[in-house]
Amino acid sequence: MKRTPEPELMQIPSQVRAYAEADFSRSDSMVVKSLEKYLKKIGRTLNKSDLIFDMACGPGNIAERIAKNWPFVNVVGIDGSKEMLNEAENKLSENFKKNLSYQLIDINSITTGEIYFPFKADIIVSNSALHHFHDPHSFWGALKKIGKTKCIHIHRDLIRPTSEEKAFEVKEKHLSDSPGILKKDFHASLKASFTVEEVSQQLVDAGLSQLEVFQLDELYFEIIGCI
Ligand SMILES: C[S@@+](CC[C@H](N)C(=O)[O-])C[C@H]1O[C@@H](n2cnc3c(N)ncnc32)[C@H](O)[C@@H]1O
Repeated sequence: MKRTPEPELMQIPSQVRAYAEADFSRSDSMVVKSLEKYLKKIGRTLNKSDLIFDMACGPGNIAERIAKNWPFVNVVGIDGSKEMLNEAENKLSENFKKNLSYQLIDINSITTGEIYFPFKADIIVSNSALHHFHDPHSFWGALKKIGKTKCIHIHRDLIRPTSEEKAFEVKEKHLSDSPGILKKDFHASLKASFTVEEVSQQLVDAGLSQLEVFQLDELYFEIIGCI
């Protein structure tokens, strides 16, 4: 199936609400688990000077989990949608204020240099972010600019199904009980996603081939590594 990009930023109030209210806890927790597992594998422990970015953080569910798991580490969630960051900031409790903050930034503007982002991360994570970019190279370009040397990367995203029929089947299988707006968005996201082969080529093109990409299940791939 040919890729059909969807709008980059999620700004429509009903769409943002539906996304923020949905329960993605299983997949959100997987990002934290993957990071824990990778840190253990490379024998790296985090300390208070470490800085973690959650790119295209949306309502901040994953950034919050990371901030809770490593309360001494600073976590910054970045998103270009004010509406999404309002959701994130509204649930920012006193506990999280110590080590979690949000930045309203269009990630493309980091790549083009329109915005100079003065901070560099030790760890960069993202979930369901890459497929939003009309030009995926812009996403990888930004990551290269804002990661320190030896930056750890964990990125998860949807895999584009092979056909329209398969996309419909996958949507019904995984979101059968969800509100219509969420199902519609999920379907659009499946069509906007990349195949594992396409992502693998993107990493080569971006000079990031040290990062490993592999299929996790029917829905997701994961990219992991240190550059
Ligand atoms: C599907 S949501 C994922 C949110 C979050 N990562 C999660 O897993 O719950 C995609 C997010 O990417 C953001 N986004 C898309 N393009 C972006 C860009 N160019 N710059 C910053 N954020 C972007 C959208 O606004 C939206 O909040």
